[in-house]
Amino acid sequence: MRTEAAELVFDEATKVYPGRDGAAVDHLSLTVPAGEICVLVGPSGGGKTTALKLVNRLIPLTSGYIRIDGRQIGDYDVAELRRSIGYVIQQVGLFPHMTIEANIGTVPRLLGRPRSWVKTRSAELLELVGLDPSYAKRFPAQLSGGERQRVGLARALAANPPLMLMDEPFGAIDPIVRGRLQDEFLRLQSELRKTVVFVTHDIDEAIKVGDRIAILREGGKLAQYDTPQRILEHPVDDFVADFVGQDRGLKVLSLRKLGDLDLAPGGRHSGDGMPSLPADSSLRDALAVLVAEHRDSLLVVGADGSPLGVATRKDLIG
Ligand SMILES: Nc1ncnc2c1ncn2[C@@H]1O[C@H](COP(=O)(O)OP(=O)(O)OP(=O)(O)O)[C@@H](O)[C@H]1O
Ligand SMILES: [Mg+2]
Repeated sequence: MRTEAAELVFDEATKVYPGRDGAAVDHLSLTVPAGEICVLVGPSGGGKTTALKLVNRLIPLTSGYIRIDGRQIGDYDVAELRRSIGYVIQQVGLFPHMTIEANIGTVPRLLGRPRSWVKTRSAELLELVGLDPSYAKRFPAQLSGGERQRVGLARALAANPPLMLMDEPFGAIDPIVRGRLQDEFLRLQSELRKTVVFVTHDIDEAIKVGDRIAILREGGKLAQYDTPQRILEHPVDDFVADFVGQDRGLKVLSLRKLGDLDLAPGGRHSGDGMPSLPADSSLRDALAVLVAEHRDSLLVVGADGSPLGVATRKDLIG
């Protein structure tokens, strides 16, 4: 497998666990293009974790196919397959008796990389996920939940895999830290361009991080696979509409940024206390500010604080 992003294809992939009546994943067909993030969402027990485990062959397919870069997963050596897939599991799963550095270096060590290489790589990855180098020598129990999640991400990235499977990677984290981790993950992805399958319960997280979203219904059947925008604007049925929520109209606003608008000039007389927001704020956040401050317009500013123009309520809601 190459080290750049790989294309992942589910082709009628089906899993029936022994002794169970229905399928956990039922004739799932979807393609994740190389370098894109596909978010899997759906009800608990809907088959999301099962779908991930099929890819790295932690469980065998009952029928159908999964292909990575056009080659069936069954044709790869299983050890090679798993080493070339970064896997972040639902409960992080760091080895408690090993330092952070050793945890991150697990796969490179298995690949026979020399000790000095592993050390350097661990340090690079700590920096990449925003942790201080001093964390290398700590143990998992000495980290907060959010920090452990970052280490889990660093470990999954260690061998520079072309494909990442992430099972609720930011699951048990408070909303503020979670938002930060999502931002960091997106920043990383803009550099690394991996193919990612990302599982979450949280539709807002799915909309934020997904290039495409796959919604599974009960019994592991695909309800809809589309861009966040299409899912919000054109849910295929009531199940999807309910799943994305009554406020899907507002959620569409979270996909666009102030900087995307045609702004009216008018930054010069900004001294009247008009609220100002950076151009990378979402339209949804901007609307929330206008409502909270009883204002009709706001000043959009660049990264250096310079005024770019004025946006009105009407601009925001189109
Ligand atoms: N090893 C197993 N043996 C039998 N049934 C299983 C096994 N693992 C999962 N299942 C069943 O398969 C279905 C799908 O489970 P899965 O863990 O894939 O769901 P999920 O979408 O990841 O759920 P959650 O959101 O709660 O993590 C469930 O009905 C579950 O009970
Ligand atoms: Mg699960």
